[in-house]
Amino acid sequence: MAGEDKTAIVTGAASGIGSATCASLLESGYRVLGIDRTEGDMSLPAAYSHVALDITDFDRLAGVVGVDFTPGDVNLLVNCAGQREICHTRKLSHTEFRGILNVNTTSVFVASQAFCERLIGASVAGAIVNVASVAAFLGEPNRTAYVTSKHAVIGLTKQFAVDYAQFAIRANAVAPGVIRTPLTEQYFTDDDQMDRIRRGQLVADFGTTADVVRAIRFLSAPDATFVTGSTVFVDGGWSASKVL
Ligand SMILES: NC(=O)c1ccc[n+]([C@@H]2O[C@H](COP(=O)([O-])OP(=O)(O)OC[C@H]3O[C@@H](n4cnc5c(N)ncnc54)[C@H](O)[C@@H]3O)[C@@H](O)[C@H]2O)c1
Repeated sequence: MAGEDKTAIVTGAASGIGSATCASLLESGYRVLGIDRTEGDMSLPAAYSHVALDITDFDRLAGVVGVDFTPGDVNLLVNCAGQREICHTRKLSHTEFRGILNVNTTSVFVASQAFCERLIGASVAGAIVNVASVAAFLGEPNRTAYVTSKHAVIGLTKQFAVDYAQFAIRANAVAPGVIRTPLTEQYFTDDDQMDRIRRGQLVADFGTTADVVRAIRFLSAPDATFVTGSTVFVDGGWSASKVL
């Protein structure tokens, strides 16, 4: 609606899917607050502000999202920051396991709770979109912490949908397959890996950040009022089939 003040917070804003999400929201007239452990893109318009923050600093994260953030008429939180290990379970240290869960799961809880309470305090509605993964539904070799953390993100998505529906706050998730970003860049230099991924997907092309952003924009659209607690797969059919 014209004249509406649209605001969004995006974690993992400095790269890949998070950065593409910020660009799309800015194009649509949102004020965007990007959070990332690295500095943001200085060339972004004035409607973009950036907080350099490690999201495992939970007190600061809760302060930025729950106190400093000024809600508008339309409010969105995209929990996108993420990390993964590549390590067999036998060798995975407790510290690394906990570290991945802190980044991928606990930060989602902290940011989402702070966001929801801020909106309730301001008597406004909103939406959360969590960037999960096909690894939220399937096991993968050498990614025990990542797979665990992303399964938990789907649980959090449903819980926030349940507990905050009465406050007109929706929570949904996207589950990307392989999307070319700095996180996955090395896959694209490994012919065997590319071959395995291609055989797993039903769609011949590889996914792009734009494919994921379209799903995030659908789930977060203020008129998607009947969609909450759900997950949209953006994986070229990877999770819908198995190679025989
Ligand atoms: N690329 C894929 O194929 C793919 C597939 C499924 C899910 N995902 C998920 O999408 C999300 C974004 O991934 P991407 O591919 O854009 O990766 P990316 O590495 O390009 O971007 C991740 C961003 O998160 C930030 N980040 C990581 N840890 C942080 C921390 N502790 N504090 C603050 N910022 C931190 C990084 O600095 C980076 O800017 C992640 O949650 C990832 O698990 C990606």
